[in-house]
Amino acid sequence: MHERRESIHGQWSSRMAFILAATGAAVGLGNIWKFPYITGENGGAAFVLVYLLCLLLMATPIMMTEIMLGRRSRRSPILGMQALAREGNASRHWSLIGWMGVASGFLILSYYAVIMGWALAYVFRAGSGMFEGMSAPAIRAHFEGFAADPEKLLLWHTVAMLLTLTVVARGVRGGLEGATRWMMPLLALILVALVGYNMGSPEAFYQALSFMFTPDFSRLTPQSVLIAMGHAFFTLSIGMGAIMAYGSYMPERVSIARTTLIIVAADTVIALMAGLVIFPVVFANGLEVGAGPGLIFQTLPIAFAQMPWGTMFGALFFIVVSIAAWTSAISMIEPAVAHLVEQRGFTRVRATLLLGAIIWAIGLLSVLSFNLLADWTLFGKTFFGLLDFVTSNIMLPLGGMLMALFAAWVMRADSTRQELGLGRVSFALWRLLAAFIAPVGVLLMLLSGLGLWQ
Ligand code: TRP
Repeated sequence: MHERRESIHGQWSSRMAFILAATGAAVGLGNIWKFPYITGENGGAAFVLVYLLCLLLMATPIMMTEIMLGRRSRRSPILGMQALAREGNASRHWSLIGWMGVASGFLILSYYAVIMGWALAYVFRAGSGMFEGMSAPAIRAHFEGFAADPEKLLLWHTVAMLLTLTVVARGVRGGLEGATRWMMPLLALILVALVGYNMGSPEAFYQALSFMFTPDFSRLTPQSVLIAMGHAFFTLSIGMGAIMAYGSYMPERVSIARTTLIIVAADTVIALMAGLVIFPVVFANGLEVGAGPGLIFQTLPIAFAQMPWGTMFGALFFIVVSIAAWTSAISMIEPAVAHLVEQRGFTRVRATLLLGAIIWAIGLLSVLSFNLLADWTLFGKTFFGLLDFVTSNIMLPLGGMLMALFAAWVMRADSTRQELGLGRVSFALWRLLAAFIAPVGVLLMLLSGLGLWQ
């Protein structure tokens, strides 16, 4: 396998291109839409602390592992895991990681595109100036009316899927790289401006800070710990092979550890800033922190309605969120597309269209779960809620755990060490985390969060 040092799908043009693409995959709705609303639902600071610990002790070493598996194999996740297993004289069934990842990617994209559709729709709502002078209750009612309208959601879901498929069909360099180059700096800039605006109301800002950073552990349940862990995986896009696929396009002499740390830092800063953009508005207007998936759509327009240049800021904000979602969405389908191209000789375009149609169709159920099928619940969750719960909190952590176990126990230490490019001490640390701490942590949190073990 080692003569073949480049993937048949091509390669990123530079280290920077890889960082941008992987950061583009990592930073998305997870940071700006999901992190604030699950933090609100799960009681704030204690949840944030568990999330940060999971990022550090589990998600970061697993992200390094996943990139490493991709670059080592230079193939898409399913065949890549098969090849690495063969090389390590292990069972072919390790390719299960790849298959489960393809399934997770399908399911996640199916509802992710629905929410990306909301962000797209809100570009036009904010940009039209309709929120100017609107009251907080009216803004909330507007969102509720929007979510209750299956036709609107369907339209925007379809637009979001088409945007995603267009980029994926164009392939590694043409499609994936271009989109991220200017998006990240712009997103950071807008968030900084909005945090700055919020500081203009010190009382609400202080309340937001203490909600996010003064932990009250009595509010933590085993299930919220599981959700915090699942989100650490979700936000870095790990556990399903997207990052493995991206790693397989990574140039040879780039340090995996260093690039991972850069990506994790950028992702974390953006999520925390999103919290500092949303929660002050929540507190200043006496809104409910636990409002759920509609949180950013019900709160931010209030700030835009009041601030100078609010219409422009609002439109720009939702444009940037849509782009962040877009550069994440493309990564979810990349492993499956690359697999069909590699294994079945599909053209990229055909593979993309076929898979996109299936995912779009699954997404219809999420669209309906906000309105016509809102009463259709299992374990108290709608179809959307259940899909999100099972993928983020079960499938991704399991996938990540298996990758860590494979890398630490099946692969030879000299090859992992060489591929990761680590010194003795940092390699020992990675090994400790990947072989023991991350897998045991995932297992314990899964068992207790699902109520299988007290
Ligand atoms: N990390 C992205 C976000 O925070 C979502 C995402 C992109 C993702 N690719 C993924 C999640 C793969 C899980 C698996 O919005």
